[in-house]
Amino acid sequence: MNASNWQTHFRTRRVLITGGMGFIGSNLAIQLVNQGAQVTIADAMIPGYGGNLFNIEPIRQQVTVNFCDIRDVNTMNYLVQGQDYIFHLAGQVDHILSLSDPYPDIDMNIKGTAVVMEACKHHNPKARVIYTGTRGQYGSAVSLPVDENAPTHPKGIYEITRLTAEKITQVYHEVHGIRSVMLRLTNVYGPRAQMIHARYGVVNWFARLAIDGAAIQVFGDGQIKRDFLYVDDCIEAMLMAAVCSDAYGEVFNVGLDQPTTFLELAQTMIEVAGTGTWAFAPFSPERKAQEPGDFYSDISKIKRIVGWQPRTSLAVGLAQTIAYYRAHKAHYW
Ligand SMILES: NC(=O)c1ccc[n+]([C@@H]2O[C@H](COP(=O)([O-])OP(=O)(O)OC[C@H]3O[C@@H](n4cnc5c(N)ncnc54)[C@H](O)[C@@H]3O)[C@@H](O)[C@H]2O)c1
Repeated sequence: MNASNWQTHFRTRRVLITGGMGFIGSNLAIQLVNQGAQVTIADAMIPGYGGNLFNIEPIRQQVTVNFCDIRDVNTMNYLVQGQDYIFHLAGQVDHILSLSDPYPDIDMNIKGTAVVMEACKHHNPKARVIYTGTRGQYGSAVSLPVDENAPTHPKGIYEITRLTAEKITQVYHEVHGIRSVMLRLTNVYGPRAQMIHARYGVVNWFARLAIDGAAIQVFGDGQIKRDFLYVDDCIEAMLMAAVCSDAYGEVFNVGLDQPTTFLELAQTMIEVAGTGTWAFAPFSPERKAQEPGDFYSDISKIKRIVGWQPRTSLAVGLAQTIAYYRAHKAHYW
């Protein structure tokens, strides 16, 4: 299989998305349904996370939704059966929370992933699994851009548990033959993210402030660089990696080869929105403790093996993001 036929490959395929009511999962579900896949979503709708019924409004009649926790062994044993692909996105994603309470990360991200992979081992070893980890697994960059061979020194429990879950997935690939792809996503932004708090999803939070005509706080001197990726590009990377045989067993960065500073991000956001202001602000102690500094991904490996590359510029991605939330504010604010 190669990734060139990814737009037709999923027609009639059975796909399970854990965390499918959330930001990335719901965008993925919509894309898959539009391609003709039979999609089942498993999501616990945990308060404060990104799960939102409105996220799947365009496909409500065409997906099966199972409100469940991935740590429920019997449910996962049942749900994985007959699936061609499993996109495993559910987990504790609030890296600020993980500083004060490490247990949800350990329980959901590590145990939850083990439950999903055990379910595959016993009930559907032919399924292909796509796991979404984070650039945070690297910690501070030793050199830039950061490639997949860079050392991993996570700066928080969230990031440690994401790395552990990636390793669990890799072990099931190598030892139990569950074909899996491990992705390390950079900061992803776009429609259908939670917009109620600033603990994760910085770009979307900036969008909310701009839309509200409020001041965007740019921490420090605003010169820290990141590669901000539009969600449609992220979904394309996930789908293309899923159908690429050479990708199984591999770890890939999914990012943008164009870094932007946080100050540039705030300024572009305000320009695109036509509203909002920005001001410098000091880092809070907990944000300072977890801030890895400049980070941008080397994406040459996924370009070479999978053939994926991002297509959306920051200005276009931000314009689409702002237009979506302006149109559907009532469902997110
Ligand atoms: N958004 C990003 O910038 C980004 C960056 C790197 C990695 N990731 C990873 O991508 C994945 C999806 O992130 P997102 O931004 O869409 O988050 P999100 O909060 O929008 O979605 C996560 C979904 O998972 C569900 N969930 C959480 N724990 C669960 C459990 N135990 N059982 C069942 N459902 C559960 C939540 O209810 C939510 O709907 C996560 O694994 C995250 O670590 C995201």
